[in-house]
Amino acid sequence: MKSKLAKPQPPLGDQEFADQVIAACDDRSGALLSILEKVQEHNPHKYLPLEILEYISEKTDIPLSQVFSVATFFALFNLEPQGDHTICICRGTACHTRGSRSLLERLKLELGVPDSGDESGADKVCVTTPDRKFSLRTVACFGQCALAPVVEVDHAIYGHMNEQALHREVEALEHDKAK
Ligand code: FES
Repeated sequence: MKSKLAKPQPPLGDQEFADQVIAACDDRSGALLSILEKVQEHNPHKYLPLEILEYISEKTDIPLSQVFSVATFFALFNLEPQGDHTICICRGTACHTRGSRSLLERLKLELGVPDSGDESGADKVCVTTPDRKFSLRTVACFGQCALAPVVEVDHAIYGHMNEQALHREVEALEHDKAK
């Protein structure tokens, strides 16, 4: 006889939070985006586990394929746990011209992020350190080209960034964490 394995469920607190968010969204168009955004923000590791996507799909009657395609299409959503701090380096043309590649390479070394070895995708980075302290990402343009090179650290934008200043920011975050 075949035994059917129970589907993993999100923790109860996450289910309750998702229920509240879904109820508050009240069938508005674009509600799915807003639901996913709030649920991700609520997650301590700022991501959307598969179980919560399935739960949202069931509760909203939106097919899982549609929930999944929204969660994978928008760069703001994460399907993997994120670090305590996120550093995002702009790799747009203006920032590239002003040295953002060196900032990226320096930061990869400092955080111990291994090289992907894929030359074609060398500038596309979205990785979290094994200790989950830092997530390192790249972006195509922050729309702040006059401030190039631009780096975002935990949602704060820093213009005219240089290696020393970035090193100080990382050190300060590490120090914060050690407190
Ligand atoms: S290219 Fe970096 S902010 Fe536009």
